[in-house]
Amino acid sequence: MQLLDGKKTAEDIKIEIAVEVQKMKDKGEKVPHLAAIIVGNDGASLTYVGSKVKACERVGFESTLVKMPSTITEVELLKKIKELNDNDEIDGFIVQLPLPEQINEQKVLMAVDPNKDVDGFHPENFGKMALDMSTFIPATPFGILELLERYGVETKGKHTVVIGRSHIVGRPMSILMGRKGFPGNSTVTLTHSYTKNIEDITIQADIIITALGVPNYLKANMVKDGVVVIDVGITRVPDESNEKGYVITGDVDFEEVSKKSSFITPVPGGVGPMTIAMLLKNTLLAREMRRN
Ligand code: GUN
Repeated sequence: MQLLDGKKTAEDIKIEIAVEVQKMKDKGEKVPHLAAIIVGNDGASLTYVGSKVKACERVGFESTLVKMPSTITEVELLKKIKELNDNDEIDGFIVQLPLPEQINEQKVLMAVDPNKDVDGFHPENFGKMALDMSTFIPATPFGILELLERYGVETKGKHTVVIGRSHIVGRPMSILMGRKGFPGNSTVTLTHSYTKNIEDITIQADIIITALGVPNYLKANMVKDGVVVIDVGITRVPDESNEKGYVITGDVDFEEVSKKSSFITPVPGGVGPMTIAMLLKNTLLAREMRRN
């Protein structure tokens, strides 16, 4: 079993990005500038956005955090998005999801300028991704592709089973793994809450990507020997013995499943850090696109 070390790989990527930023500085160019809008006070969302801003500092990017109360109206949020679209200093920005109930997520995603949409959630970019055109790829799926590539995990002709069809992970992942090229050329099954006898499907999988948010869901009896397992789950499970009062737990019963795996991501330290590194990579791309 080999661990797909997302923490280390993300560090490598951040060093590569920092080198590019230094080159920009040496030439007297403006460095990439990422902005993030966060609505409300959800602890997990605040932590994720905080990590994104911290990562910007690490690689030498400019960053702007826009905090808005959970009571804002859709109109107010759309106005803020327009401001960021029109602000020439900002190369790319994200609106952290989920959003409060009174706000229509689709309207929000449609309002982001596709050229600044470093999350890759705008339909124009999502469509380009599905059509193999060059675009921003959503950060979590992009991070998974990068891990598979850097560890040389064979995907061609393999059966990839994706668990969960969210717009952020499962859906784009199912498209990307079936695309031409590497990592891709996989035969993909996308499973979800209406899938019957899921264990009959997962047992056939060469590669399993779980993005479900159900702690320890994937058990050893659901996978075959030699399987590659990518665990996107990050659920906070209450744990009094921990100083934070919770532990981050993945979708995979790591202890048992790892014994049957050829490659597996840990939680934490797997996909999570890769997501942040790839958001930075998309922001660097956005800066380069705007310069050219
Ligand atoms: N919420 C959970 N993951 C993400 C992400 O990748 N981008 C945004 N904007 N919100 C998220």
